[in-house]
Amino acid sequence: MIEQYDRARHNTDEVKNLLTMAIGYPAPDFLQKLLDVVYDIEGHHLFITSNQNKVTGIIGLDITARPHGWLLHLAVRPDYRRQGIGKSLISQVMEQFKLESVALETDQNAVDFYRACGFTAVEITSKWPGVHRYRCIKGQPPKSVLKYYHNLTMP
Ligand SMILES: CC(C)(COP(=O)(O)OP(=O)(O)OC[C@H]1O[C@@H](n2cnc3c(N)ncnc32)[C@H](O)[C@@H]1OP(=O)(O)O)[C@@H](O)C(=O)NCCC(=O)NCCS
Repeated sequence: MIEQYDRARHNTDEVKNLLTMAIGYPAPDFLQKLLDVVYDIEGHHLFITSNQNKVTGIIGLDITARPHGWLLHLAVRPDYRRQGIGKSLISQVMEQFKLESVALETDQNAVDFYRACGFTAVEITSKWPGVHRYRCIKGQPPKSVLKYYHNLTMP
């Protein structure tokens, strides 16, 4: 069951740890900015799932082009992985917002997870030499929507 992240009720350090896993190597104050600024923008949502008061997974998305969404962050606590939580987070947000499609960009480590969740993955040009990047899509977003989200995420 997903719940919208609420700083008054949820453990922000646990949420930040999971955001770090989703991002890689965030700058020190970037995570707080994500929580205070990015996820405060209309159409941007950060959800958590928990077990016995532990935050076990997070999923963040931009649905400003609803019914087409763009997945911004997804991570599951290492000791809760391979139990279907990541897949379920994606289907729960799609259901909650009645999304017809979800797209995102990711790296080699997670691309097979997205394939297993029904996404098609196409390799795209990477900014970093030797690093493979993929655009993963579930459903059929119009090209204009992909361009819109891509321009937001790649300034
Ligand atoms: C990627 C991640 C979110 C997957 O979460 P998870 O809860 O372990 O995934 P699930 O258990 O829901 O797995 C769903 C399917 O993907 C497969 N899968 C999961 N992780 C996988 C991986 N690393 N490589 C290949 N397949 C994987 C599972 O076997 C399962 O397949 P099935 O439905 O055919 O049985 C988790 O490993 C994670 O947090 N990784 C670090 C952060 C990250 O990379 N986030 C994505 C960046 S955009």
